[in-house]
Amino acid sequence: MCDCASDPENATQKPTAPRSFPDNRRSFLGALLGVGSVFVGALLSVPLIRFALFPLLRRTTEVKSSPVGAMNEFSALTEPAMRNVQIEFVDGWRKTISERAVYVTTDKDGHLRVLTSVCPHLGCTVPWNKEKSQFICPCHGATFTKDGARISGPSLRGMDTLESSVQDGQLLVRFQYFRQLVSDKEVIG
Ligand code: FES
Repeated sequence: MCDCASDPENATQKPTAPRSFPDNRRSFLGALLGVGSVFVGALLSVPLIRFALFPLLRRTTEVKSSPVGAMNEFSALTEPAMRNVQIEFVDGWRKTISERAVYVTTDKDGHLRVLTSVCPHLGCTVPWNKEKSQFICPCHGATFTKDGARISGPSLRGMDTLESSVQDGQLLVRFQYFRQLVSDKEVIG
């Protein structure tokens, strides 16, 4: 049997007092405040995270359609008409505007077609040669018909047709770049 009164070690230990009601309430409120802060912080960080990740989540470079001219300008084309179009590229947060030449021409059935002026061989700008009624590339001599079909030269395919549409009487084009030195048309940007 323990003689606690005579044991000096046990004699100095004081019984633990139960926590009072105000103490419990303070710790409960503290915990609630902590959880609330974490919740509000997480809630506020969602738009910030979406903002930061937006360029990464976006699929790829977006190219907007550019106006080429009024449709009635091209109603009686006898040869390709060159137009310089402003192209807006949007890549994540970066927006660039550049100018490129395109040709509005007609196919065998008389339908409008918009061609890029970029040579599918190595990318030189291909001019229309009025005297010869052909596109003739000044760099390595590739030649193309007025609707862009390949005639001769080092290019492995014809000139590339661009996506076009008509809106409110305006001809619009979606400018894109295509892989060079290959026989099949392949979009690269
Ligand atoms: S770049 Fe046009 S033929 Fe070579």
